[in-house]
Amino acid sequence: MKKRTYKFSNSSVDYYLAGGISHLKEITEQKNTIIVTDDNVYRAHEKRFKNWKTIVLKPGEEYKVQRTADSIIEQLIGMEADRKTTLVGVGGGVITDMTGYVASVYMRGIKFGFVPTTLLSMVDASIGGKNGIDLGVYKNIVGVIRQPAFILHDMIFLNTLPSHEWENGFAEIIKHACIKDASMFRDLETGSLAKYKSGKKAICELIQRNALIKTKVVQQDEFEKGDRKLLNFGHTLGHALENQYDLSHGYAISIGMTYASRISRQLNGFKDSARVVYLLEKYGLPVHLEFDRQKVFDVLKMDKKREKTEMNYVLLEKIGKGVIRSIPVAELETIIKEL
Ligand SMILES: NC(=O)c1ccc[n+]([C@@H]2O[C@H](COP(=O)([O-])OP(=O)(O)OC[C@H]3O[C@@H](n4cnc5c(N)ncnc54)[C@H](O)[C@@H]3O)[C@@H](O)[C@H]2O)c1
Ligand SMILES: [Zn+2]
Repeated sequence: MKKRTYKFSNSSVDYYLAGGISHLKEITEQKNTIIVTDDNVYRAHEKRFKNWKTIVLKPGEEYKVQRTADSIIEQLIGMEADRKTTLVGVGGGVITDMTGYVASVYMRGIKFGFVPTTLLSMVDASIGGKNGIDLGVYKNIVGVIRQPAFILHDMIFLNTLPSHEWENGFAEIIKHACIKDASMFRDLETGSLAKYKSGKKAICELIQRNALIKTKVVQQDEFEKGDRKLLNFGHTLGHALENQYDLSHGYAISIGMTYASRISRQLNGFKDSARVVYLLEKYGLPVHLEFDRQKVFDVLKMDKKREKTEMNYVLLEKIGKGVIRSIPVAELETIIKEL
């Protein structure tokens, strides 16, 4: 099985992107491993969990909270997990975030790895070492940055992925294209959701290309002092909308990217906001929402990207080139209310 190792500031991560879950036992010792997954993944792929100790969680973002972390920890204690135990998150971003978080605090930190099963978690959530949970409307407000030991892909999981989750994944792929890769943006413009769903080679290549874009950004700036902030394109407003309006992550950031493109036009002379909107729509993503501006702004201003009275907002200079602009919170309030 092909392995590539990527170095981060104080650890390295083994990527097996052309792997397959049947190889998991070659990567981690079965008797010292506990898998964390959710009910949907478990039911759709039960046979793949055979002979593995497994903790099965209820699916959904609403369970990405401390209460669930406590319940996993209680189960780990019950299973006598110790410092030699490796936790493996097999699931979407909720599961990988939760697994990385619990593994980072259980006994002050044990080893963990990921088998992402959604498009979104393959290209985004499983990469970069951010592992967090939500509190109320505040997304990922509690967490750590700690890299997994390995990431293993298996395209077989995509066979059972609901349509809506494909769209969610494409939101992050389009984000990567907007901030870093104009040539991938053009490929997406000529491609389509149907083409990627049916073309095994095309989706494999697209996933690997995106996993690499994110990996490179994180390698250069693991602790988010600069360039890593670009990955938040569409996320400042997106996160504020996500929990308040019960939108999925991809849908929320699609609306966030639409507004960020318009703000880019206003503040940065960005000329291609229509192309961004068109591409999002082409991949089945929403680009408009009637929302309560004041309520959303009140959550938005608590964003982790705020520094006192300024907010670091990711804008586009051109397709493929994201930039970070510091916008006074008061000015941002006016912009959001007038958009
Ligand atoms: N850590 C990071 O850097 C990072 C980056 C992006 C997103 N995230 C987080 O990721 C989460 C979103 O990820 P997601 O969209 O993967 O969410 P998710 O884990 O909720 O998965 C989406 C849905 O698909 C189901 N599912 C997963 N794999 C399946 C499969 N193969 N077949 C059938 N059903 C399947 C799940 O049960 C769930 O209902 C959010 O919590 C977000 O904050 C984290
Ligand atoms: Zn995201």
